Amino acid sequence: MTSRRLPLRRLPKTVWERQEPSWRGARPGLIEGALKRALARPSGNWFVLAASAQIRPGRPFGRMVADVEVVAWRSPDGTVHAAPGACPHLGAPLCRGAVRGDRLVCRWHGLSLGSEGFPGWSPFPVYDDGVLVWVRLDAAGGEEPLAKPVLPERPEAARALAAVETVAARCEPEDVVANRLDPWHGSWFHPYSFVGLRVVEAPEEGVSDSDDRFVVDVSFRVAGRLGVPVRAVFHCPEPRTVVMRIIRGEGAGSVVETHATPLGVDRQGVPRTAVVEATIATSDRPGFGVARRVAPLVRPVMRFAARRLWRDDLAYAERRHTLRSSGRWPS
Ligand code: FES
Ligand SMILES: [Fe+2]
Repeated sequence: MTSRRLPLRRLPKTVWERQEPSWRGARPGLIEGALKRALARPSGNWFVLAASAQIRPGRPFGRMVADVEVVAWRSPDGTVHAAPGACPHLGAPLCRGAVRGDRLVCRWHGLSLGSEGFPGWSPFPVYDDGVLVWVRLDAAGGEEPLAKPVLPERPEAARALAAVETVAARCEPEDVVANRLDPWHGSWFHPYSFVGLRVVEAPEEGVSDSDDRFVVDVSFRVAGRLGVPVRAVFHCPEPRTVVMRIIRGEGAGSVVETHATPLGVDRQGVPRTAVVEATIATSDRPGFGVARRVAPLVRPVMRFAARRLWRDDLAYAERRHTLRSSGRWPS
């Protein structure tokens, strides 16, 4: 039965430096092992390109993905297309082109491009899962291609509210994944959001794929000493995705998918990675139907709540990359 009471609990009073240190549990070898296994999983060369909502009808979208310039556009019937971002005639940026019907028209000399391709210009396979758009780049990925991206299980769309946020970091995708595979930093590094984090289960070397996960009990701090206790599971379905699913407590079934898309290397030779995080919230609480109706208002709030967490987690990932690339990573 659904409780109509507010899910908020009064949290125990905590003093940051008096928490139980978590470093003994957060064994570098264990985290590294989980990361290695994640990186070895197939992606089928699929990369998250953008939020579905970012590829709007009538307007092309451009982004570098794994050093490949990609343009995407949506036809009037909703179909998404993706292709190389440079015009095959004289190289104009197609993200500045015009969408006419289901075709993309180059601004420079009017070349009209479509799914049939053009000499020197072949569209990429693309997949719109309703929340995110994925593009398959076989040359960049170098794996055996898969027909579809490896998609995490999500709550049913009709009962869920999705928000997608993207930020760029100066690191590689594995640094973003490694940060998420260290749940132990939760209440130490993010005390403003997490209280009393306890890792209930962590995967040891040799675990089966289905048991390769972390289980965490934690309270999300809402305001002051009020919070929401949940149990959450973290796992990596593919090498650039970490999924957190709430399995017990308020919002059970909700997921936060963190996708790390390599963009390319900047002028200083530093790799850049886009972190695309999709929060797909669900609840069987009666009030949640209302939240769905006010989705345009709720979305920015869901994003704002995550901003500080983001900043700190990106700093962690960038620091890991700096140490790794200068041979100072503890191993
Ligand atoms: S550069 Fe695109 S048509 Fe000439
Ligand atoms: Fe974090």
